[in-house]
Amino acid sequence: MAHPLEQLRDDALREIESAGDVQSLEAARVKYLGRSGSVSAWGEQMKTLATEEKPVVGKLLNEVRNAVSAALDLRAQQFRSQKESASLGQIDISLPGTPHEIGALHPLTQMWERSIEIFRRMGFALADGPDIEDEWHCFDALNTPPEHPARTEQDTFYLPDGRLLRTHTSTVQIRTMESTPPPIRVISPGAAYRNEEIDATHAAQFHQIEGLYVDENVSVADLKGALEFFMRELFGAGTEVEFRPHFFPFTEPSLEVYVRSKALKGGEQWIEVAGSGVVHPAVFEQVNKARGDKAYDPEKWSGYAFGLGMDRLAMILFDIPDLRLFAQNDLRFLRQFA
Ligand code: DAH
Repeated sequence: MAHPLEQLRDDALREIESAGDVQSLEAARVKYLGRSGSVSAWGEQMKTLATEEKPVVGKLLNEVRNAVSAALDLRAQQFRSQKESASLGQIDISLPGTPHEIGALHPLTQMWERSIEIFRRMGFALADGPDIEDEWHCFDALNTPPEHPARTEQDTFYLPDGRLLRTHTSTVQIRTMESTPPPIRVISPGAAYRNEEIDATHAAQFHQIEGLYVDENVSVADLKGALEFFMRELFGAGTEVEFRPHFFPFTEPSLEVYVRSKALKGGEQWIEVAGSGVVHPAVFEQVNKARGDKAYDPEKWSGYAFGLGMDRLAMILFDIPDLRLFAQNDLRFLRQFA
């Protein structure tokens, strides 16, 4: 004859299996395993059993409790997966998915990276300086005193304390020489600002790569060699480079750099891409004054410098007609360079 505990187990298992929802399953759990449930009641009853009966019934009680609790777990799991598949069933797998957009570098950033890579091969290190500058670093130290006409040509945005948004990256020439004795070979990519009437070729914020090389016996020949190499690496072997005499207060002689390449659209035209020249001795003297030494003795050291227009170079390389496109964040434009 089956022990009443076995009968209890069979009843419990049947009831659990036929529980139709979470509520009736919980009711079954309380009924059998709850504090005053029937399985628990058997635990209480153990005390009243004869000593020789205790181990036998105790073992059986354990088995029954384990079986009931396993059956409860199993049924609960079944309810959970039923619920899951019901909600999955509502997903319309014929709908188009949500694609993850893959980002890409902005054309100007791409231009910067290409340019920096070329200069690195020529041994240039990276230098940096602030966008908000004082007048001394932007003008005076670059041999452009207050009454100089170049100062009016480069109108910019002034802060109430007299500082300004730098009109060119040439400020980094000064900052680098202030902190580092010669020889020096640096480039400095960055933004520059001018109070411009904005149109397809003029922006209030634009981008440059400044270059400075100071060593013994640096000449115009070194400058031309470096920039010709750079332009050919960037625009292709057939690129022609022309240097035209110009004026900058901080270089003597000063040269504007033009390129022309059949590989480019409108390839017959000369396009101005940079200002450059041999560092003016007055710039070294200003730096020495600030340093309080003679580290940049113009009798011993000479150098060349250049400022490349990054926006211009990118417009040429990628055939972009309007400078404003760089800042408008229009994905139809940006995707073309992804
Ligand atoms: N700073 C000049 C500008 O923005 C460009 C320039 C000219 C930079 C000659 C130089 C240089 O370093 O030597 O118009």
